[in-house]
Amino acid sequence: EQIEKGGYEHFMLKEIHEQPNAISDTFRGRMLVDKGIIRMAGVDDNMERISNAKRIIIVACGTSWHAGLVAEYVFEEIARIPVEVEYASEFRYRNPVISENDVIIAISQSGETADTMAAIKLAKEKGAFAFGVCNVVGSSISRETHAGAYTHAGPEIGVASTKAFTTQITVLTLMALKLGKFKGTISNSDFHMYLQEMERIPDKVKTALESDAVVTKIAEIYKDAPNCLYLGRGYNFPVALEGALKLKEISYIHAEGYPAAEMKHGPIALIDEQMPVVVIATKKGHYEKVVSNIQEIKSRKGKIIGIVTQGDEEVRELADHVIEVPETIEALTPLLTTIPLQLLSYHIAVMLGKNVDQPRNLAKSVTVE
Ligand code: G6P
Repeated sequence: EQIEKGGYEHFMLKEIHEQPNAISDTFRGRMLVDKGIIRMAGVDDNMERISNAKRIIIVACGTSWHAGLVAEYVFEEIARIPVEVEYASEFRYRNPVISENDVIIAISQSGETADTMAAIKLAKEKGAFAFGVCNVVGSSISRETHAGAYTHAGPEIGVASTKAFTTQITVLTLMALKLGKFKGTISNSDFHMYLQEMERIPDKVKTALESDAVVTKIAEIYKDAPNCLYLGRGYNFPVALEGALKLKEISYIHAEGYPAAEMKHGPIALIDEQMPVVVIATKKGHYEKVVSNIQEIKSRKGKIIGIVTQGDEEVRELADHVIEVPETIEALTPLLTTIPLQLLSYHIAVMLGKNVDQPRNLAKSVTVE
């Protein structure tokens, strides 16, 4: 097992650090930047069907559901197809309206999650086209779907999902770009810009991983907090949910993710000098709005941990701590902002002496209801 961990103390840490390579592996052979082409056989072979979708329904559970939420923003922005993101367990039991013009995308690291599998079967019975985004090759969901795209993240052992999340976002972004190009909903110049920036993401993830020392210090300060709030807007709202989930899963600290602007409709009541609030406040995407959310937290004496773009001064002035990530296109920021949140939960769990790779009560793959 020590050898499998490749010198890391835990699988989770190894998998966090594998993300630059895992993301490269996800787009290797698919993204031909010079030619301005994205090749994805499962999409190419079914282009008419998928691009004519009246609606895309994404079904997933857990972290994969969070990747689906990011994909909702990406698909709607780039491919202009309406998207709904459903918890597979809710979707399958509520007699959903599904038509033959719908495309259902199931996202699943393991490809074995029982509820996600049942959701696909239901959608297929009603005539929808089913597309799978799985990590495990030959898994049940990859076989049950009409077509799909693997994430190629390599085996993920840690129960708390890390590289599966970022590679799912990568594959879904490629898919949205491909559809957008086919439909003409993204300009050629924007398409090229995305491809070029996507190619830089693995290096930028490496830079984001360098926040480890800063994150460790922050973990030391807040490891005994009973609660933690995570806020983000737009593309980074799902990242806030995912950051909170990571902390809950492995450190057993109660954490909630919220859209930053919704804070005033509830969670703001919880804020006092004891409450750490992680705020994703990168430069692109509602930056000024997030800054004003930070001011609201500060005036209630909450402790602010800002995830910011390199060189940011404004949030640095207001926040108790900042963690920097490189700048990128707004739609790709989740691939970077997620990294320090994974590290934060990891370090807190280690400091608290928790079983990081196999947290209590959780399973890597939930194959029964
Ligand atoms: C379990 C795992 C999570 C995972 C979820 C969905 O709860 O502990 O890490 O996100 O299942 O799994 P899937 O394999 O379908 O992505």
